[in-house]
Amino acid sequence: MNKSSDFLSFVPIFSSLDKKILEKILEKGQQKFYPKNTYVFREEEPGSCLFIIISGKVKVSRGNNDGKEVILSLLQESEFFGEMSLLDGSERSADVITLEDTELFLLDRADFNDLLINHPEVGFALLKELSLRLRAADLKIKSLTLKDSEGKVATILIELADNYGKIKNGIVEIDKLPFQSDLASMAGTSRETISRTLHTFAKKGLVEIDGPKLRILDYEKFKELYNN
Ligand code: CMP
Repeated sequence: MNKSSDFLSFVPIFSSLDKKILEKILEKGQQKFYPKNTYVFREEEPGSCLFIIISGKVKVSRGNNDGKEVILSLLQESEFFGEMSLLDGSERSADVITLEDTELFLLDRADFNDLLINHPEVGFALLKELSLRLRAADLKIKSLTLKDSEGKVATILIELADNYGKIKNGIVEIDKLPFQSDLASMAGTSRETISRTLHTFAKKGLVEIDGPKLRILDYEKFKELYNN
């Protein structure tokens, strides 16, 4: 368990708050451990708290009755989720499931509302983050509706590279590529298409696959080719 509020200072919506306030937030919330592959909550459940990821990774997704799913986002350390139900009073808009052993910090609706009322900078930072998520969702709609297979897979690789990649000399390395079935749910295509398209990219010399690692060999060129 974290006794220090340090992890809260890395959460973009709290980054402008001073240590005393972060310590108060720490006292008000609670920390919970969720093993890998555990639902934090399901779509349509009522929501009463905000979650901050202290460590680990979660998947935000929606499914249908046939067992198909679309992955809306992957979130990691210092990111938050669960704010939508708190803001609009509706049910949870998506499932959230852990992809690794994950430590979460939970803040009740009343404490979250207090923060928004007493610290407008938290509200502005929250609006900024929601705008970024809306931009990412717009990009996904465009990719799902207008792009061919290569474009769909490239869009996902660019999203992963921007969020999790390490860049060096123009090469971006993604350490741990999600499973092909998850890439398919992110790109709105089949696992077979993911496998075939990754091979096509490798044959064209655009990417290099090395176990769970994927390298985009000339990231600027890759974005020029596919980011339109
Ligand atoms: P809430 O609706 O309370 O529960 C599901 C959460 O998933 C939601 O709040 C957001 O925090 C998160 N979420 C939903 N859609 C997206 C998205 N497109 N990108 C990132 N996070 C999302």
